[in-house]
Amino acid sequence: MRATPLPELMLEPAFDPAGAARDAIGAGRLASKGLDVRHGTILTLEGINVSFDGFRAITDLNLYIGVGELRCIIGPNGAGKTTMMDVITGKTRPDNGHAYFGETLDLTQMSEVEIAQAGIGRKFQKPTVFEALSVFENLELALKTDKSVWASLRAKLSGTQKDRIEEVLSTIRLEGSRHRPAGLLSHGQKQFLEIGMLLVQDPQLLLLDEPVAGMTDAETEFTAELFKSLAGKHSLMVVEHDMGFVGSIADHVTVLHQGSVLAEGSLEDVQANERVIEVYLGR
Ligand SMILES: Nc1ncnc2c1ncn2[C@@H]1O[C@H](COP(=O)(O)OP(=O)(O)OP(=O)(O)O)[C@@H](O)[C@H]1O
Ligand SMILES: [Mg+2]
Repeated sequence: MRATPLPELMLEPAFDPAGAARDAIGAGRLASKGLDVRHGTILTLEGINVSFDGFRAITDLNLYIGVGELRCIIGPNGAGKTTMMDVITGKTRPDNGHAYFGETLDLTQMSEVEIAQAGIGRKFQKPTVFEALSVFENLELALKTDKSVWASLRAKLSGTQKDRIEEVLSTIRLEGSRHRPAGLLSHGQKQFLEIGMLLVQDPQLLLLDEPVAGMTDAETEFTAELFKSLAGKHSLMVVEHDMGFVGSIADHVTVLHQGSVLAEGSLEDVQANERVIEVYLGR
C-alpha cells in the first residue's frame, strides 16, 4: 500500500506565473511542490469499475493524464464521463480499481475536501457563483476556503492574495467587472468567474464538465484560448460534446463508451476510427 503524505505537504501552491514549468511536460517538474509526479503522470486510473444497482456505469477503465496535458474526453450521453469525474473527486467510490493523483495520493482513500485541497479543482456544468456578491468577492471567497463566508470577507487579504486575484481577474477577462454583482454577469462570464474561482486556488489538475455548453461563439473561442494558456501550468481534463471546440484545443482525445476507453489519439484519428463512427452514428 502506498503511503499518503501529510496534508500540509499537499497544500503547497503549484502555480508558476512565469510559466517556467511549461518545458517540464512529461518530465514531472511542473506542479510538483508537494505532489509526486516524478514519472510525468498526474492522474492514473486503472481497472476502475463503478456500478449503480447492478448497472455498470464504468467498466475496467484505464486512463492516464500527463503533467501539464490538456486532454479532451468525448463520448455519447451516458458513456460515463461525469461518473469518471465523480470518481476522481471522491464523490463516487469505485467498486474496485486504482485512482492515483501523482504517484502517491490514493484518491479512493481521500475525502472530497482532501482531494480538492490536494489540488484537484472541478467545474460542474451549471455555474455556482454567489450572485449577490461582486466578482472580486467571489474570487476572494474561493481563495479563503477555510473560513465561513462572513469571516472570509472580513479577513484582510494579504498582498500575495490580492496579486493572485488580480492575475486571475485578468486571465478570465473580468477586470472591468470586478465590482459587479455576479448575478448580473452573462452566462458565459459566470462560467469564467467560476473557472477563476478554481484558479485562485492553483489546482494542479482541473476537471471541466461541458464548459462551453450554452456559451456564445465568442465566449467559446475565448474559452479555447484560455484553456490552451492554462495547459502546461495546469493539467486539464475537459469533457465536451462540441467537436469544433474539442478540435480547437485538444492534441489528445479519449473516447469513452459504455464506461470504457473506446479510442484514444488525435481528434482526426479517433473520428476516423470505425468503432467510434459506429458508436456515434448508432446513437
Ligand atoms: N447516481 C447514479 N445512479 C444510477 N445511475 C447513474 C448514476 N449516475 C450515473 N448513472 C448512470 O451511469 C451512466 C453514465 O452516466 P454519466 O452521467 O457518467 O454519463 P455521461 O457520459 O456524463 O453522459 P452525458 O454526456 O449525458 O453527460 C448513465 O447510464 C447514467 O444514467
Ligand atoms: Mg455528463
